[in-house]
Amino acid sequence: MHHSQTRKIIMAEKAGFCFGVQRAVDKVYAETEKGGQVYTFGPIIHNETVISDLAARGVRIIHSADEAEALHGATVVLRSHGVTREVFRKLSENKEVRLIDATCPFVRRIHEIVEERSRAGDYIVIIGNVGHAEVEGTLGWSEGPASVIETAEEARAFRLPDGMPLTVVAQTTFNARKFEEFIAILKEKGYNGFIVNTICSATSERQAEARRISRQVDAMIVIGSSTSSNSAKLFEICRRECDRTFFIQSYEDLGPGDLAGAGTIGITAGASTPRNIIEEVMEHVGNGTNF
Ligand code: F3S
Repeated sequence: MHHSQTRKIIMAEKAGFCFGVQRAVDKVYAETEKGGQVYTFGPIIHNETVISDLAARGVRIIHSADEAEALHGATVVLRSHGVTREVFRKLSENKEVRLIDATCPFVRRIHEIVEERSRAGDYIVIIGNVGHAEVEGTLGWSEGPASVIETAEEARAFRLPDGMPLTVVAQTTFNARKFEEFIAILKEKGYNGFIVNTICSATSERQAEARRISRQVDAMIVIGSSTSSNSAKLFEICRRECDRTFFIQSYEDLGPGDLAGAGTIGITAGASTPRNIIEEVMEHVGNGTNF
């Protein structure tokens, strides 16, 4: 049998890390090359493989600006989610810390909008998940009153203080349909204001590409952690188009015969799947070993 020779693989271009996360991870690796103690402010990404690899290279994690007070001559890298203005100020004023800001530029732009508009007197609404690190960071750039709206009920219950102008932004990874729904609710209440859809297209583009590829293949592989909600969502999208869709964490999860007879195989990966894991899967599926 030689179907390994004729097997065609379609690899999603937008598989794995988005631009902002890749940039942050690259910055941490670049810092580890320079010697010196490197810290990240919170885990740089929700992926255990990457985190333990970084730990093996001596990278440690701090969780607050106060923790950084005890550091002597360290490099601190801010992750793509960003931080509050207070944390940013404390870390940049700390003479013992070399601060590397890996806040995603798209998140940074939201901080700027929130800072400027709140300074001008606007009430700030962030449509996103309460307690999410990015949302907490963004809240921290508001100089006046601000709230987070996560559900339709909260949008309905929202009261804008009399006479206050309104600015609305979104968490970059928030669901676009829900964002539109909440905006419609606010408008029904007569709240118009300055509305900026700051949802990042990385997620929706990854999903659209996965859908397109899964329509044209015999088998589809989605690589991602079982705890990653965006990977689960990718799997769901692909399975709707292709019955033979596999959700795996690494190539070892593929069983013998899983891909038997599949002439064309598509591969994509969730936002927290590192490049080397994706490449490993590509290699094994490509040369047909054991499958
Ligand atoms: Fe990623 Fe930045 Fe978008 S971190 S999801 S590219 S906002």
